[in-house]
Amino acid sequence: MTRVTVIPVVMILSFFQRKTLFSTSLTSGQLDVVDALGLRNVLWITKHESRVVLSWNNNLTKEETEKYTVKYILSYKFFNTTHERKERLQEKKKIIRLELYSGFNAKVKTQVFVKETEDVIKESGWTEFTYKAPPVYIRNLSCIIYNISFFNCTWHIKAEAPEDIQIFFSYRHIGKDFECQKYIKNARKKNIGCHMKEIYFQSSRKINLNITVRDLRNNSRGPSYYKAFIPQTIEKLNPPINVSISLENRSIKVRWKPPPTVGSASNKCFLYQVKITDRKIVDVTAETYEYPFHKPSKKCAAQVRVKKEICIRNKIWSEWSEPVFIHDEQTVDVMLLSLTLFCLLIFLGGLLICACRRYRCLEVITMPVPHPSDNIKTWLAADETHHQKQMSEMHSEITLGIPEENGDENVQHRCLKESGLEDL
Ligand SMILES: *[C@@H]1O[C@H](CO)[C@@H](O)[C@H](O)[C@H]1NC(C)=O
Ligand SMILES: *[C@@H]1O[C@H](CO)[C@@H](O)[C@H](O)[C@H]1NC(C)=O
Ligand SMILES: *[C@@H]1O[C@H](CO)[C@@H](O)[C@H](O)[C@H]1NC(C)=O
Ligand SMILES: *[C@@H]1O[C@H](CO)[C@@H](O)[C@H](O)[C@H]1NC(C)=O
Ligand SMILES: *[C@@H]1O[C@H](CO)[C@@H](O)[C@H](O)[C@H]1NC(C)=O
Ligand SMILES: *[C@@H]1O[C@H](CO)[C@@H](O)[C@H](O)[C@H]1NC(C)=O
Ligand SMILES: *[C@@H]1O[C@H](CO)[C@@H](O)[C@H](O)[C@H]1NC(C)=O
Ligand SMILES: *[C@@H]1O[C@H](CO)[C@@H](O)[C@H](O)[C@H]1NC(C)=O
Ligand SMILES: *[C@@H]1O[C@H](CO)[C@@H](O)[C@H](O)[C@H]1NC(C)=O
Repeated sequence: MTRVTVIPVVMILSFFQRKTLFSTSLTSGQLDVVDALGLRNVLWITKHESRVVLSWNNNLTKEETEKYTVKYILSYKFFNTTHERKERLQEKKKIIRLELYSGFNAKVKTQVFVKETEDVIKESGWTEFTYKAPPVYIRNLSCIIYNISFFNCTWHIKAEAPEDIQIFFSYRHIGKDFECQKYIKNARKKNIGCHMKEIYFQSSRKINLNITVRDLRNNSRGPSYYKAFIPQTIEKLNPPINVSISLENRSIKVRWKPPPTVGSASNKCFLYQVKITDRKIVDVTAETYEYPFHKPSKKCAAQVRVKKEICIRNKIWSEWSEPVFIHDEQTVDVMLLSLTLFCLLIFLGGLLICACRRYRCLEVITMPVPHPSDNIKTWLAADETHHQKQMSEMHSEITLGIPEENGDENVQHRCLKESGLEDL
């Protein structure tokens, strides 16, 4: 008699076993009992302000519940996403935070275990449930904490959002509610962000955002969206401070200190990147970096940036620090020396040319040729008489009309002009 019943039961159980999520093995002793169990779940949700609670039951009797271990497999996926979340739970409910999702598909099944061995002896089929949330009018919500006490959040308003709505922003942190200090608006005067400053953040406590839609026609409250962050995960650090660069033992040494932070300031939390002119960016965990660089020929700059990595996952890098330039006395000396030499050479060269001209000039002037300055003075003095002026012009014409037969006279010509200008 027992044989007859065992065979179909084993068949059914092996069928179930194949569908089981987690590896199981069957125990033959419990087979009669298992066959008598029918499993079924009923799902429902309860809505709360910032979350929905998905609940379910099973239809096991009290004795069965006491005799076996009962667990549930929950699988759910938000609308318009591909990631499916799967969990094995002992309780009969799950709090689901919708954030900006417009709903989810969920399914639950029951697994019955032998208490002593924790082997699955039976599981139910899936029971499915779909929850459609009120419309979500915003997307791409992103928040950032920067410069210790500044807080920015931005979002986009979806195209399908009604025209007559406005978006309001508030948040709760350490048991207190905060309204937005200054809204960032788009061209249509809709709030698309919030800027806040002088905010104190406690790194271990969550920031609970509440973004509420209002219907402007009758000023009634529309849907609210909720999202929570740990401050450290959205913090953009300031650049590292006291960055310095020096040449030591024929290598470049860059030093810095970590910036202040709302979270843990432990040295091991920070990850740095160092950028030295034209070199590959390197990751560093210490507060110093040495680059063996034998000939810092030209101007060499170093910059450092930082983010939290080890203590908490954070994707936001700080800005790069202001560049610091190599400050090496030798380099500076060589540069200065060559510059001085160069200037000196130009100066001397110029002096030489001028002296040469002047010398030849003087040589020429000693010759019995009228001095041009005298000429011009005469010309100016003889302004009353037209005749005298003409004479002077003729004279100067004569002076300028020296034949260009030899170079010396050419030089004389130029020098005359120059000294004439000087006198004027
Ligand atoms: C549980 O539900 C299943 C399916 O409706 C049914 O076959 C089974 O008898 C029920 N079990 C109990 C203990 O009510
Ligand atoms: C998102 O999912 C819902 C429900 O599955 C669907 O009605 C809607 O068209 C989807 N939206 C987009 C943009 O894919
Ligand atoms: C905004 O979100 C949509 C999906 O909701 C995405 O396709 C788009 O790339 C996002 N835009 C930005 C600027 O992040
Ligand atoms: C950063 O914060 C300090 C002190 O709160 C303030 O003086 C400074 O102006 C801020 N810097 C920027 C860039 O906002
Ligand atoms: C934060 O918002 C203010 C106001 O729009 C803007 O000036 C500032 O650049 C923003 N800061 C960051 C880090 O996004
Ligand atoms: C969210 O903000 C709205 C509007 O200010 C408010 O009515 C609602 O109670 C808030 N929700 C929570 C959970 O505090
Ligand atoms: C406000 O107006 C909207 C759109 O006209 C309507 O759907 C909503 O029911 C109204 N609410 C109240 C409280 O009158
Ligand atoms: C940074 O440099 C300033 C001035 O040189 C100094 O007062 C300060 O203590 C330094 N900070 C750190 C963390 O070393
Ligand atoms: C330079 O190197 C020598 C040994 O190679 C070491 O003793 C000295 O401390 C180093 N100096 C600096 C400033 O790093």
